[in-house]
Amino acid sequence: MIRAAVVGLGIGLAHCAGYLKSPHAKLVAVCDPLEVRRKTVGGTFSQGSMEVLKPLFPPELLSRRWDDLGIKTFSTLEEVLEDPSIDLVSLCTPDYTHPTLGTQVLKAGKHLYLEKPVGVRLEDCDPLLEAAYHSKQMVGVAYEFRLNPAVRKVKETIDSGKIGRPEAFSLYHYRNSFRRDKVGKWIQKREFSGGLLVEETCHWFDLARYLMGREVETLYCVTRDCFYPDFDFEDIAYVNGTFQGGGILHISHALTGFDFSLIIQVHGTSGTIWCTLKDDQYSALDGGETSWYGLVAVGPLNGKPQEAEVTKFGIEATEPENIQNAVIHFTQSIASHHPPAATLEDGYRSLELSLLAGKSAREGKVLEYRSQIPIHKTN
Ligand SMILES: NC(=O)c1ccc[n+]([C@@H]2O[C@H](COP(=O)([O-])OP(=O)(O)OC[C@H]3O[C@@H](n4cnc5c(N)ncnc54)[C@H](O)[C@@H]3O)[C@@H](O)[C@H]2O)c1
Repeated sequence: MIRAAVVGLGIGLAHCAGYLKSPHAKLVAVCDPLEVRRKTVGGTFSQGSMEVLKPLFPPELLSRRWDDLGIKTFSTLEEVLEDPSIDLVSLCTPDYTHPTLGTQVLKAGKHLYLEKPVGVRLEDCDPLLEAAYHSKQMVGVAYEFRLNPAVRKVKETIDSGKIGRPEAFSLYHYRNSFRRDKVGKWIQKREFSGGLLVEETCHWFDLARYLMGREVETLYCVTRDCFYPDFDFEDIAYVNGTFQGGGILHISHALTGFDFSLIIQVHGTSGTIWCTLKDDQYSALDGGETSWYGLVAVGPLNGKPQEAEVTKFGIEATEPENIQNAVIHFTQSIASHHPPAATLEDGYRSLELSLLAGKSAREGKVLEYRSQIPIHKTN
């Protein structure tokens, strides 16, 4: 049994649910400087925050104290790292803390499951890469969309050769603003979250690389920042780009919506894929007509709608379940000595692409992507 600790109890609660359900792991400790968050299982919800994670827990568990369940509570990472009974740390603290705290976890000889992004500045990540290179433990980055069942279907379809050679990737993400109840409002400052491109578009750069199976060659990005004055960064980003070895990409990311929609298209030389994800059963964007949470349609080029093969997915395609299941998957990776779904190199490259897109927007130029990652030095 892998003995896990979760540090940072916001989205970290979804990590807790994963360790509580994993056949390979045991949740032995939780850590947060905020007493209300670490006292009871449902403590985080007392601030009205993270309500969407509630269904991951049986209701009777929410009022229980972690201590009474035999799960230790700590207020600092140092206490977690000094505990020899802990093998793995899920690091779910604010973005800017990831490189420093992640390095500490690895130097303490523990496995690291790191929330995205791996940091907000590349230079901060050097010690983390170095520590990972010298560590015998596994490092995984929480890019759970790779494991989303609908996205898996897209990947399997591409890998089966059914659509021929993938030549174009596009992703449209429409949502409301980032939550304003983050502890210390860290997400609203570029200094702490990296802004929209680093905080969240990093997911979509990761999917672009993962689904196309190629590295990005060039990027051009434009942004708009005039909607939410209490966030000091872009609210909308449109990115175009090319892949090494051919192929194009487009990402459209807007925080200015009133509902959630994620649409991914992959166009191949002999077929095309349309994938869509919703946040909830009711979506204003389809007039509340559908009951699925995820859908993938695969069809031939120039085909008719009736020719498409359509697969629908249920609640397992939503974000809370997905994060929880990605945590379970990481424990399986450790138990079976298989690589994690997303490595530290994947995390670093998506950060590079997010920062390059930001630079392109500032300079108004098409920029070439040349990774600075010391390949031989990844975990
Ligand atoms: N994979 C995903 O889809 C996904 C979804 C949501 C959030 N996240 C990521 O998870 C991380 C946390 O986001 P959140 O929404 O939970 O934020 P949050 O502010 O709600 O929670 C962060 C928690 O970390 C605690 N914390 C801060 N510094 C700490 C430290 N040094 N040691 C221990 N605990 C500390 C805070 O007290 C707080 O409770 C961010 O990196 C965010 O990008 C990822």
